[in-house]
Amino acid sequence: MLSGTDFVRQSLELHLFFARIMKEHSLFLGVAFTPKDGSWNQQAGMFRQDFERLLGDAISIANRNVSREVLQSGEVVTPYTIKAEIATTFFTGINIPTGLTQAAMGLTGNGMTANPMLEQQVAVLNQRALELVAALIQFKKRILTEVLACRLFTTNYPLMIEHLTREALLYQCLLQRLQNRETIVPGREAYEQEVFWNRNMSEHSFFIRGLLDPVECDLIIAANRFGGEFVELTQETMAAVGNSLLLKAVTDKSLNATMALRDFKRQGTEGILACQIRSIITPLLADHVLREANHYLFLLEIFKSNLR
Ligand SMILES: [Fe+2]
Ligand SMILES: [Fe+2]
Repeated sequence: MLSGTDFVRQSLELHLFFARIMKEHSLFLGVAFTPKDGSWNQQAGMFRQDFERLLGDAISIANRNVSREVLQSGEVVTPYTIKAEIATTFFTGINIPTGLTQAAMGLTGNGMTANPMLEQQVAVLNQRALELVAALIQFKKRILTEVLACRLFTTNYPLMIEHLTREALLYQCLLQRLQNRETIVPGREAYEQEVFWNRNMSEHSFFIRGLLDPVECDLIIAANRFGGEFVELTQETMAAVGNSLLLKAVTDKSLNATMALRDFKRQGTEGILACQIRSIITPLLADHVLREANHYLFLLEIFKSNLR
């Protein structure tokens, strides 16, 4: 059974990453509807604000209750997040509260002590997150159904909507396990999470490929190469089930490939913010996929040391 301090720490770390991811998914969904579909856009806006509040509440109790390593991993915020938020507000007219990002940047890690009241507060926060994420999953699934039946148009690829749903399902699954006070053993998590994130890294690469302007040939070729590489890695990870030697090898390969993709995404984010890349990628989407690569790298480092 999970100790009280681990429950608090792991829950808050999960929200710092995923509540932000969910609020951004809501924004990406919202801006992709046409003017005709105002009510869909409005619903997306409500989810965005709900997750903003959730993230704000998590941040308000996270100081000294999360680990320094997570805060420094680049999965919570990157040096580009605020700039990307300001640019995305400028383009969309949507108010993105940079104050939340500033507050997350001001957090300090380590220094937890047992605190039953905080534990109770976190359990309530997790419950609220579970209800919210279940509703968001339904919303994403509804959009996908309508899009696939050609009753709704959005500028998001259908695979993008599927991808966003999958990430919400992972958040939900991890939250449920925390609420059950399940101990998570990082080495044992490696297989499932690597299949999940290798697949997502391949999809990010293909989304980037398809959202770049056709004149950006070199970047399109590079994105396509990453996409193919991560498809192979996903298959290799699946083939490593129950074989710790193979899993160790594929973890090393995934780590190297993800570092290279992280650098590609970082350069992409810098290029988009500096108006030097032609694309239809919103600055916040560029930063979002960079944070997800940082999150995966952080996990891979843990898996690597636990698979020795
Ligand atoms: Fe995402
Ligand atoms: Fe993603």
